[in-house]
Amino acid sequence: RYGGIALTLTALENELLSCRACSLVSYGRGPTSWTGVPSPIMFVGEGPGGVEDEYGVPLVGPSGQLLDKALWSVGLTRDKIIVSNIVKCRPQGNRTPTAAESQFCASRWLDKEIELIRPLVIVGLGNVPLQYFLGSDKRITRSRGQIHQLQNGIWFMPTFHPAYLLRQEGKDQIAAKWDVFNDFKAALGKMQEIIGEKELKS
Ligand code: URA
Repeated sequence: RYGGIALTLTALENELLSCRACSLVSYGRGPTSWTGVPSPIMFVGEGPGGVEDEYGVPLVGPSGQLLDKALWSVGLTRDKIIVSNIVKCRPQGNRTPTAAESQFCASRWLDKEIELIRPLVIVGLGNVPLQYFLGSDKRITRSRGQIHQLQNGIWFMPTFHPAYLLRQEGKDQIAAKWDVFNDFKAALGKMQEIIGEKELKS
């Protein structure tokens, strides 16, 4: 099922890498796409930071390294899953992308990735994906850990962004890391549940 779409994803990536549709592109080195291979669980961050802009790859800086550890803790590695971002270009000075920028970019690119990949579960890292998928009134501290089914049938699990974990200290950091671990576990559990149901039906 996740096999025959590589060519179309490659075409989409080539289009994305030459995107000049908004002004964000003029501040950095250009759009970044995703890492990994199509998988039933997908992870979505905010947008590239300095390191990502330099290498042209999402989530490879300090946040990406912590994400790798969190993934490892639930038995996942970056080569087996897709990791992508809401916005593809680095906002100047690493500011948080606006709702308008998220909407403009993700409806152009991320939505098409999702259409091609058809993941069963999307894990959103932080406020930016949470607000894109569930609405601008949502806050990660209240919404994390609660899985929602989107209109397209895909399940969405909001959790903390790794940069948030890196800003916490002491006991707060330990608690927030456990939250992320439990959210990843619950998202994987939902994925297994759906795969199990499909097998029963077929
Ligand atoms: N933070 C994100 O959300 N995405 C990146 O690609 C890098 C840092």
